[in-house]
Amino acid sequence: MMHIDRGLGAGRRAAALAIAVALVAAPTALAQSSAAEGIAKYREALQDGNPAELWEARGEGLWKEPRGPAKASLEQCDLGLGAGVVKGAYAQLPKYFADADRVMDLETRLVWCMVKLQGTSDADARKNPFGNGTDRKSNIEALVAYITSESRGVKMNVSLAHPKEAQMYKVGDKIFYFRGGPHDFGCVTCHGADNQRIRLQDLPNLTKVEGAQKAYTTWPAYRVSQGELRTFQWRLNDCFRQQRFPELEFGSDASIALTMFLAKNANGAAFDAPAIKR
Ligand code: HEC
Repeated sequence: MMHIDRGLGAGRRAAALAIAVALVAAPTALAQSSAAEGIAKYREALQDGNPAELWEARGEGLWKEPRGPAKASLEQCDLGLGAGVVKGAYAQLPKYFADADRVMDLETRLVWCMVKLQGTSDADARKNPFGNGTDRKSNIEALVAYITSESRGVKMNVSLAHPKEAQMYKVGDKIFYFRGGPHDFGCVTCHGADNQRIRLQDLPNLTKVEGAQKAYTTWPAYRVSQGELRTFQWRLNDCFRQQRFPELEFGSDASIALTMFLAKNANGAAFDAPAIKR
């Protein structure tokens, strides 16, 4: 399951470019020192390939290990392609699951399987979606890293055939264009035009197919600047914060709807994550 040499080229080039741009453009001493710090960490990261592999390996272990009150592994979890099928599953998510009568993204489905198969309480299963250093590792994040890595190279193929899938997409579309909060921001404010930037960061145009494809297929990502693997859910949460919106609830329909919107718009592109980012 280690993908040391596969698919890293573009990510590495992008990171190198971002750092080069940061160096040229850094306006203050502070920015320069953090750019330098970024480069040091980036170099460190490159020496052994993508550190995301540590999360992938831990996730594979968690998937196979009997856990929870029922002492069961997750190997019978149906991620949409049948019980236990991991390969390619992420490229078709989110999707409608008849057993739950709900459209689910990967995280919501994992919580469901932890509850149904392992006997974990719903609250326990969802209590730590984002890790923070070695003191607070997140099992969900590690599982997501492993499962997404098993879709590397698979073309995104999200379906809207079920009415609830079509509805979820529509809701995601609405949320994407909805403006509100103290600055009247919507996702579209920062991600609705080409060549926009905030400080030193490029803002992808997510209203275009290429923009959505490039963004969606490169998460989760190991973030060199944070020394952490970050999931797509984390990305959405952080953008809600940037948008000055209330915190996005983990596993909420709003988060699934936005994921559905961007995942479907990425259809046709080969999935290429966990990636490595600035
Ligand atoms: C105030 C500006 C702002 C708003 C509003 C905003 N974002 Fe972002 N978004 C950013 C910035 C800045 C980045 C890039 C951060 C970086 O490169 O470190 C980003 C990155 C992203 C990415 C990852 C792109 C990539 O290629 O890695 C996605 C996906 C995304 N945003 C989705 C959204 C969604 C969905 C919304 C609405 C809920 C939203 N954003 C609202 C500023 C914003």
